Amino acid sequence: MSGEILRLRDVSISRGEVPIVHDVSLDVVPGAVTLILGANGAGKTTLMDGIAGLVRNTSGTIHLDGVAIERFPTYRRAQAGLGYVEQSRTVFRTLTVEQNLLVSQAGKGDLDMVYRLFPELEKRRNLQAGHLSGGEQQMVVLGRALISDPKVVLIDEMSLGLAPVIVSRLMKAVGDLVGLGIAVLLIEQFAHLALEVGTNAYVLRKGRVVFSGPCEELRGADQRLHELYFGAAPATAADAAAPVAQPVAQPVAAGTPAVPSDGPEPEGGTR
Ligand SMILES: Nc1ncnc2c1ncn2[C@@H]1O[C@H](COP(=O)(O)OP(=O)(O)OP(=O)(O)O)[C@@H](O)[C@H]1O
Ligand SMILES: [Mg+2]
Repeated sequence: MSGEILRLRDVSISRGEVPIVHDVSLDVVPGAVTLILGANGAGKTTLMDGIAGLVRNTSGTIHLDGVAIERFPTYRRAQAGLGYVEQSRTVFRTLTVEQNLLVSQAGKGDLDMVYRLFPELEKRRNLQAGHLSGGEQQMVVLGRALISDPKVVLIDEMSLGLAPVIVSRLMKAVGDLVGLGIAVLLIEQFAHLALEVGTNAYVLRKGRVVFSGPCEELRGADQRLHELYFGAAPATAADAAAPVAQPVAQPVAAGTPAVPSDGPEPEGGTR
């Protein structure tokens, strides 16, 4: 594919000595929301941490706007135009909304852009962020990543603990980002909501890409997603109805233990 702003080729990543992500090639293009889907433990966060430089890839290449960044430290990747909303990141509770947004920008950030995206925040700009609802706090976290005007923003699980109606609101904002010229790479457990705003999707299973293609191929295809996530069709109707299907169509409720995958696949292990 040409025209991609972020390009990964054959990227493998380990956590300590354990190989987690294997030979992932992926493209993120401007004007699109690209999804990374997969079961808990599939390696989605590890892949994003590798793109952002929080862990180093053991092999493969990562290009951002044509520049090889895989040996850059995290701050240089950010300077090169990579924004990252990490899983479970939170607000500074005692700072105001506006202070939260500007905390890493020394007053240079584009507040107007964030407030256009989230008018809710402008109304509360002088309120301590700890008093915001969970959804509004997530808007602040997203706004903080956007304020430095990144070329690509990586977003890992905005929806944890939030009601579906709030997740829909956040997804709409993600769709709006594309109109601002920001490319988005999104991890989301609410697959059916993410697929509504997504353009292309990659499904990871045990650290490997098992699907890449247009989101329309996966919309409404719960059975296909289940197979992509877990590797096999449910043996019985009872299995199909079991909670294991929840992350595909309806994520587990806040506080409910996550559904594990089979864990990382050891390098050279049997499949
Ligand atoms: N810091 C770490 N050290 C060792 N192993 C880790 C570390 N972080 C994650 N892992 C392991 O790597 C595998 C992939 O984890 P990762 O968090 O990337 O998956 P994920 O797809 O983001 O899952 P989830 O949907 O639960 O967020 C898991 O088996 C996990 O236990
Ligand atoms: Mg994760």
